[in-house]
Amino acid sequence: MQIQWYPGHMTKAVRNMEEDIKLIDLVIEICDARIVSSSRNPEVDRIFGGKDRIVLFNKADLADPLVTDEWIAECKKQGIFAAAVDARQKKSLNILNSLIDKATEKKRARDQKRGIRPRSVRTIVVGIPNSGKSTFINSYAGAARAKTGNKPGVTKGKQWIRPNKRLELLDTPGILWPKFEDDSVGMHLACVGSIRDEVFEVRQLVMELMEIVVSEYPDSLKDTYSITETGAEFLEVFADSRHIIKKGGEPDYDRVCHMLLTDFRSGKWGRISLERLQRS
Ligand code: G4P
Repeated sequence: MQIQWYPGHMTKAVRNMEEDIKLIDLVIEICDARIVSSSRNPEVDRIFGGKDRIVLFNKADLADPLVTDEWIAECKKQGIFAAAVDARQKKSLNILNSLIDKATEKKRARDQKRGIRPRSVRTIVVGIPNSGKSTFINSYAGAARAKTGNKPGVTKGKQWIRPNKRLELLDTPGILWPKFEDDSVGMHLACVGSIRDEVFEVRQLVMELMEIVVSEYPDSLKDTYSITETGAEFLEVFADSRHIIKKGGEPDYDRVCHMLLTDFRSGKWGRISLERLQRS
């Protein structure tokens, strides 16, 4: 099934980003550590051409740390510089400066050979909606951003922030669109809130989410809600025990499912990754 969800304003955002790419040396790609494959655009290599790149597995605080470690190890194998972060925590971004140095090492050496004077690295942050791009820019460069914004006239043209001497960051993140023809990718994106819930029927979404969680993290739902039933029975017991009912006394499954989704997204079910690295 081809899911129609791509909002019109994204076409413009993508065109703008393609323009911005020409100005930059380094791309910081933010993906969601809980759904690493689905939150990366498969065309990312085409879009960014030969630019140096860092991949940040964001929301690592919500993801299974063992699974995240496997993704990072795989990136290392492929020569991609990557780290797990929680973009809300400035401290967790400390690793970034050394990653930037490593990712731009070759370019710096090339420039030096050609007699080009070292200059700060121009960077853009990109990622799919809700991956944490704005949160990252705020945590990493918030203070510099505030300073820039206060100077008169700085709103003209491109807004660059200077978080430190070695870096210039484009203030507007690039929005990548997730691409999927496969239902399960769309489901995963909806589970973490990167595409609108309404793309799927909420009950179907929650049933599929629970199925993955029960098979990969069998104690998670039991520990969170003290309910041992699974699937449709779980929903029934949940609605009944919490009196989530409609006027006529029927269980209100829509409300139940929205509550469960909110709990999952905020980490109440524990640290869960919906996608593991597939080993060939
Ligand atoms: P975007 O620009 O890529 O669209 O994403 P944005 O920064 O707006 O972040 C989307 C949501 O994800 C925000 O929550 C943000 O707080 C949360 N978030 C970002 N990074 C992390 C992270 O590393 N860990 C966790 N747990 N959450 C993160 P929100 O509910 O939309 O808003 P609010 O909670 O900030 O009010």
